Amino acid sequence: MDKKRVAIIGVTGSVGQEFVHSLHNHPWFEVTQIAASNRSAGKKYMDAIRDPSGIISWDVDGEIPEYIKEMTVKTVDELDVSQLDLVFSAVESEAARDIETKMAADVPVISTSSAYRYEDDVPILIPGINDDHAELLEIQKKNRNWKGWIAPLPNCTTTGLAITLKPLFEKYGAKKVLMTSMQAISGGGKSGVSAMGIMDNIIPYIPKEEEKVKIETRKILGKLKDGKIEDANIRVSCTCTRVPVLDGHTESVFVETTKEIDPMKAKATYEQYNKEISVAGLPSAPEKYYAFHEDPTRPQPRMERSVGGGMTTTIGRVEKEELFDNGLKYILFSHNKKMGSAKGAVLLAEMLYKKDKI
Ligand SMILES: NC(=O)c1ccc[n+]([C@@H]2O[C@H](COP(=O)([O-])OP(=O)(O)OC[C@H]3O[C@@H](n4cnc5c(N)ncnc54)[C@H](OP(=O)(O)O)[C@@H]3O)[C@@H](O)[C@H]2O)c1
Repeated sequence: MDKKRVAIIGVTGSVGQEFVHSLHNHPWFEVTQIAASNRSAGKKYMDAIRDPSGIISWDVDGEIPEYIKEMTVKTVDELDVSQLDLVFSAVESEAARDIETKMAADVPVISTSSAYRYEDDVPILIPGINDDHAELLEIQKKNRNWKGWIAPLPNCTTTGLAITLKPLFEKYGAKKVLMTSMQAISGGGKSGVSAMGIMDNIIPYIPKEEEKVKIETRKILGKLKDGKIEDANIRVSCTCTRVPVLDGHTESVFVETTKEIDPMKAKATYEQYNKEISVAGLPSAPEKYYAFHEDPTRPQPRMERSVGGGMTTTIGRVEKEELFDNGLKYILFSHNKKMGSAKGAVLLAEMLYKKDKI
C-alpha cells in the first residue's frame, strides 16, 4: 500500500515533536516534508531543535526517530503541496490562520490551533466523540472553493472535558458544568511558562483558555443539522490554572444532570462506551478509551500519562454531588500532547482516512 504523504508544520515545537513521534513507522502516513518558522528553516531537524545555547531540546519520551534527524526544515512557502496528501499544522493560532488558509486551498489540513475552530462551517473534531460532524468538511470545501479542508481539534483542556461529558450528556442529560483545571507546563508550548515562574507555584490564569473551553464544549456536543452545528444546550463555567506538572491536564468537574445518576451508573455508561467506541482498532486508538477508577487516589498525572499510550482518558473520584438534585463530581486526567493534540490529530487522520476523506 502507498502511504499518504504528510507534512508537519511547526515541527520543532512541543506539539510538532509529538507529531514526529506519533507518525514514526505509521502504517498509513509517511512524513515527507517538515516546516517551521524562519528561525529553523534551512536547518537539519537535529540542529533546528537545539536551544540558543546548543542543547538539544526534545520534549518527548524516548529517542528522536532516525527518519527525521537529517530532514531539512522548510519555510511554509517552500512546501511542495503538489506532493502532499495531508498537512498537520501545529503553530500558534495567529500565524496558523494564514498558513492553514493557504494550505487548505490545495490539501486537507488537520490543525491543533484555534485559528478556524469558531467558524460556522468548521467542525471541532474529537475522534470517537463527534465523528458525524466530519460531514461538515464537505460543505466547508464547497463554501470556500478549496480542494482541501481544515479540521481542527479542540483546545487540549476542552478535550478531556468533552470526552467525559459526552456519555453523561447523551444518557443523563448533563445541563450545567463547573470545571477547574490543573494544566501541565507543556500545554503552554516550548516557550510558554518560565521554569522560575512555575516551580513551587500555581498560575491562576491562562489567557483565553476559559472562553475556549466554554464555546468548544457546546459545539463538540452539539448536533449537525441541515449543514450546521446546533450547539448543545449545556452551560459551562470554568477556571483554568497552570501547575508544575510536565505533561497531562487534570480537571475537577461538577456536573448537573436532568436524570438521576450515581457513580455506578456512570461507571456502567463509560464501560458501555468503551465497547462501542467508533475508533476502536485504529492504529493510534487506545485499548480502552475511558479508564474508570474507584480508588480515590486516582487519577494522578504520573500514573495515568502513559496509559493507552497517552490516549486513554482517566476518570476518578466519582461521587454523587449533593448540591444538585441530580449530578456528579469527578476528576479527570487527559494527556495534552497525546489525546489532546498531536496523537489525537493522528487518530483523527486515521478516522478521516477510513471515511475516505483523505
Ligand atoms: N502544547 C500543547 O499541549 C497544545 C495542545 C493543544 C493545542 N496546542 C496548540 O498547538 C499549536 C502549537 O503549540 P505548541 O505548544 O507546539 O507551540 P510551540 O512549542 O511554541 O511551537 C510552535 C511551532 O510553530 C512554529 N512557528 C511559529 N511561527 C511560525 C510561522 N510563522 N511559520 C511556521 N512555523 C511557525 C515554531 O517554529 P520555530 O521553532 O522555528 O520557532 C514551532 O515549531 C498552538 O496553536 C497551540 O495552541 C498546543
